[in-house]
Parts: sequence; structure tokens; C-alpha cells
Amino acid sequence: MKRLIALAVMVAAILPARADEGMWLPALISQRIADMQAKGLQLTAEDLYSVNHASLKDAIVLFGGGCTGEVVSDQGLLLTNHHCGYSYIQRHSSVEHDYLKDGFWAMNQAQELPNPGLTVRFLERMDNVTEAVLEGITDALSEEEKASLISQRCDAIRQQAEDPAQGLVAQVSALYYGNQYFLYVFRQFRDVRLVGAPPSSIGKFGGETDNWMWPRHTGDFSIFRIYAAPDGTPADYSPENVPYRPKKSFEISRAGVQEGDFTFVYGCPGSTREYIHSAEVDYVATVSDPERIALRDQRLGIMKKYMTGNQAVRIQYSSKYASVANAWKKWQGEAKGIVKMQTVARKQAYEARFAEWAQGTRYEGLTERLATLYAAWVPYQRTYEYFLETVNSVELPAFAGRLSRNLDKREAVAEAFFKDYYQPIDEEIFEAMLTAFFDEVPDTFQPAFFKEQLVQHGSVHAWREWLYANSCLTDPARVAALESLEQLQQDPAYQFYDAYIQCFSRDIYPVLSSLDDEIEGLYHDYMQGQMDFEPDKAFYPDANLTLRIAYGHVEGYRPCDAVYYQPVSTLRGIMEKDNPDIFDYNIPQVLRDLYAQGGYEDQPVCFLATNHTTGGNSGSPVLNARGQLIGINFDRVWEGTMSDIVFDPEVCRNISLDIRYLLFVVEKVGGAGYLLDEMHFTN
Ligand code: ARG
Ligand code: GLU
Repeated sequence: MKRLIALAVMVAAILPARADEGMWLPALISQRIADMQAKGLQLTAEDLYSVNHASLKDAIVLFGGGCTGEVVSDQGLLLTNHHCGYSYIQRHSSVEHDYLKDGFWAMNQAQELPNPGLTVRFLERMDNVTEAVLEGITDALSEEEKASLISQRCDAIRQQAEDPAQGLVAQVSALYYGNQYFLYVFRQFRDVRLVGAPPSSIGKFGGETDNWMWPRHTGDFSIFRIYAAPDGTPADYSPENVPYRPKKSFEISRAGVQEGDFTFVYGCPGSTREYIHSAEVDYVATVSDPERIALRDQRLGIMKKYMTGNQAVRIQYSSKYASVANAWKKWQGEAKGIVKMQTVARKQAYEARFAEWAQGTRYEGLTERLATLYAAWVPYQRTYEYFLETVNSVELPAFAGRLSRNLDKREAVAEAFFKDYYQPIDEEIFEAMLTAFFDEVPDTFQPAFFKEQLVQHGSVHAWREWLYANSCLTDPARVAALESLEQLQQDPAYQFYDAYIQCFSRDIYPVLSSLDDEIEGLYHDYMQGQMDFEPDKAFYPDANLTLRIAYGHVEGYRPCDAVYYQPVSTLRGIMEKDNPDIFDYNIPQVLRDLYAQGGYEDQPVCFLATNHTTGGNSGSPVLNARGQLIGINFDRVWEGTMSDIVFDPEVCRNISLDIRYLLFVVEKVGGAGYLLDEMHFTN
């Protein structure tokens, strides 16, 4: 018996603790801190989040509209992903200075490049304002009255907290489907300059081929610097501005990671739906994901056909291809993961237990009502997604729509459009997507104009040929010569655009949005019901792009039978993939030369961990037990992407850049080692 116990203790010590699901609120982290400490954290709740003194939260920003960044020096030096900085790097690029291709390294602060429009915001504090928002809101009020009162209160609370002169902006966010409200106060900076970016052959190494995959070797980072007015307040760009002195910056650990090490990710996850009804999960896994994947298969195939072997077209479409492919690949993992996890059946079983418990309570009949609403919702949602993925993905009509809204800026709109437009791709996508549209969208939702055109031209193919031959929008000179909105409205591409927009706004949107509202309304109760049903369970709110903490440990996984993926990748793997003939794997010569010198084989590049993350966590600091920076989050493995709906500890892994690879690239590839002088290292 004694031996058995000893064995159990030993096994427990060897096996890392199970992966931890959850994205927790920093202000309430004291509720999780004991668990985090038991798993290895060596910090206190106050070290992570405090309003009274500097804490780790003060070194983290929401970067732009949808990524995270972290400060690593007391001169406002900021790290995020290459794919988060991509559009800014692109804007500074030209044929003479192709920073996307060659990378960019400022060699001193004077060379750093301003980025108008880019902001970063630090969280000053977050307060639970639920009582103030919901006071006096009772079921005696109608849904509209409730909604309008809640939105007035949120506005008032927000306005009171804002102070534009200090750069203080605020938002009130609903958590748990409006069962709680939090006020978030941020300090937002508006002068953020580009400091460095590796060439895309490092920052985007592996491209779409490796995206969402392991083994991964992407050096997905870029470096910025936050500037403020000389008195430290946020200001618009000015040469007089000075590097911002943050309240806190991260120390960097060069000690490296080992399987089993505690890690946590502190960032801004965008959106998850963990508490939804089985009907929605079923829709996602069996209808939405598979149908959208199939439609995108066609679009990607068409783009790829023209991109292969045509350098100019490849450049024009690489960013478009990347964004279509990104969700396409994620959905494949998501649908597969939901099926494998049997999430629909499990949720149904849960709903049956919930319904039984709910009898006689105010939650009685809730899950059934949700099921009924979903039955009505599915055809509208499906049609909406079809509109998005088919007719709305054809470029020429969408261009017509943009022109109609910006006719006075037609030259700029046209210039941006034609720079990255290749008509044969668009024509072929038109034909494929319209064919799918007629096949799959219920007759009652098809615009009458489309049906007439089809009859008139006899086939989608003939309609396509006629439309592209007769639209003046394929020709920059004729676009520039457009005289009036009336003239634009006569154009066949505009008429196509107008037909589906009218049909959508008249026949689909009103019903869909009212069903959405009703469903969200029921979730308000269902969420509270789930919490009452399982009072001992720790519920974390769905992600909403506000700051969260996820924690877990470094761990590989088994993608399939007989295969175990180690959690750390190295430069050796880059050399294994290196191939000058494959665009995604063609590394810069300097990396080959460095490798040939010897001694860099084991240079770590990326690592896997069990932290629960999602889109928006890109760029998030990945921290060790002492809160030191060990990596930058940039992706998940595709087998685990269902974690937005259901988390599987077996395969859900976040992918991080090892911070030591960033240091290596900055120093050895970029020759910008001077940047390391302002960072603080520990071992
Ligand atoms: N999958 C990552 C994310 O969702 C990276 C996307 C950018 N990279 C790419 N190859 N498309 O944002
Ligand atoms: N690449 C994603 C982002 O931009 C992170 C990947 C994910 O976890 O969804 O936020």
C-alpha cells in the first residue's frame, strides 16, 4: 500500500498538471491565485493586477484594434507579432524600400517610423459596475426599456471615467451575457513608431503552409516604441515627443523552457462562445464550418492557380489569400474537434439535466425555447453566411459599393483597388461563387434581379462574360472619368452589388437581427442559470477583447495515433524546411550563413503550451512562474481550434515564439543588437 501511495505521488510529480481551461479576469485573479501557485506561479495576485502600485498589467497593451503587445524597456519599447504589425510595415514599404521582404531595423530612435492611426492602450483599472448598471432593472420593464436604460447608464459611467486631456478612454463591457458589467479605463497612446521587423521570410516563415500548425518555425514578431509628450501624457505624433516611460516593463528570461514548466499568457482574447446551446454548436460543426470551408476551397484554388508562377499576381493576392486561408484552416480544426469531442451530444445531455433541475424555477423551459429559436435562426444565419462568402467575396461589385460611398475620393479608392486586382481571378471567383449561390441559397432569399439576369444571359458563365465586358469599373481611366453617382448606378457591377445589398437588408437582416437579439436575451438567463445549476464550478466570462489571464504549462501533444509532438522547435527545423524553390520556406541567405558557421543548431524558435487563448491573444506576453517574458503568443494548433467553443486539454495548445529567437534575429540578422541594451534580462 505504501508503495502504491509513493508511486502515486511520484507519478503526480512527473505528470504535469492537466491543462487549464479558462481566461480569467485580472481584477478577480485572487480567486484563481491559489490554483496558479499550486501549479507553479511564484507571484501574488497583486503582482499580476493592482490599482495601487505597478503590476504586470501595466506592461501590457491592446495593440491597434485586435492584437496584444508588451513593453520591454523603460523607454517604451514594445513587442508584438509580425502579423499584427504587418499592415504598418506594408504602408512604409515601396519598391525601393521593401520592408516586408527585407525587414526594417531602425539603427537609432531618429530612424523609427511613425504610424498615423495606430494606438495602444494600457489598462488603468477595471471596476465591477454591475449594481450601478442594473439598479432598478426589473422584469416589469419591457426588453426595449431595459436595453435603453442599460445603455444610458453604461454611457454615463463611461463618460464620467474619460479624460481626453490625459488620454483616458473608457468602456463598459457586458460579461456573462449582461449578468455583470465592468468599467475599463485605459490610457491610450497615439504616437507609436516602428522600430524593427524581420524579413517576411522569417516573420512569416512557413506562410499559409505552416499556419495553425506544429512543428512551427515562424519568427512572428515586430518591434515598436510608444512615444508621449515630454510630460508623459499621450499625444499625437510630434518630433518633440519622447519615448514613454511605462509604469512597468517585462524582464526577459533567457533561461528557456522545458516541458512541464508553468506558463501564463496575459493578453486580450477577442471572442469565445463556451456556454452556447447544442443547437448552435451543431450548426457550427455540421453546417457553417463545412460549407464555408468548401466555398473557400474554391476561392483559394482559383487564387492559387493564378498566383503560382506569376510573381506580380502572387504579390497582389498574398495578403488576400492569407486572410481567406486563415479562417478556412481554423474552421477545419474547429469542426473536426467538435465532432471528436462529441460536444453536441454532451451539451444535449447537459441540457437535459439542466432542464430537469430547472423545473419550477425561473429557468424552466429555457433550453427548449433556445432550441426553438435556433430552428428559426439557422436558415437566416446560413443565408447570411452564404451572402458573405459568395456574392460579397466578388471584388468588382464590392468595389462598386465602396465607390458609391466615396465618389469624391474615387481616385484614391480606385488606386488602392487596382493595385491589388487581377481580373481573371475575380471573374473566375464570380462564376464559382454565383453557381454555389444559386445551388444553395433558398429560392426565397435569392434577389429577383439575379434570377432575371440568369434567365436573360442563359448561364452564370455568359452573365459573367457580359458583366465584366460591360462594366466600366474594370478600367482605371473610366473610373476616374465617372461623372456622377447616377452614372455609377447604371453600371452592371454596381447593379449587382445593389441587388444583393437590397435583398439582404430587406429580406434577411431584419429577421436575423431580431432572432439574434432574442437569443442573446435568453442567454442572459441561461448563463445565470448555468451558474446557479453548478454553483461550485468556476465560470470564466467569454472573451471580449478585454485583458485576461490564461495559465497552463509547456507541453507537446499527440496529433494522431503513434505521433507525439515535442513542444520546442529549433533552428535545425528551419534548415530542414529551407527550400529556395518553395516561397513559404525560402529563408534569407544570412540565416543559412549563420547556420553554416555552426553552433546554432539548438537555437530555440517556438514552443507549445496548454494556455487557453484565441484570436486577439496574438502578440501576448507568455510568462514564466516569476512573471518574466519567455515568449510571444502568435497562434494555436489547428487540432485545438475548437477551444473557442469547447476546450480539450489533450490537444488545445497555444504556439509562442521563444523570446530567445527574437533576440537572436534582432542581433544576428538585423544587426540591431543595440536594442538589447535597453532590455532587462534575468537567467
Ligand atoms: N493563425 C494566426 C492568427 O490567427 C496567424 C495568422 C497570420 N498568418 C498567416 N499565415 N495567415 O492570427
Ligand atoms: N493568430 C491569432 C491572432 O491574431 C492567434 C491565434 C488564435 O489563437 O486564434 O490573434
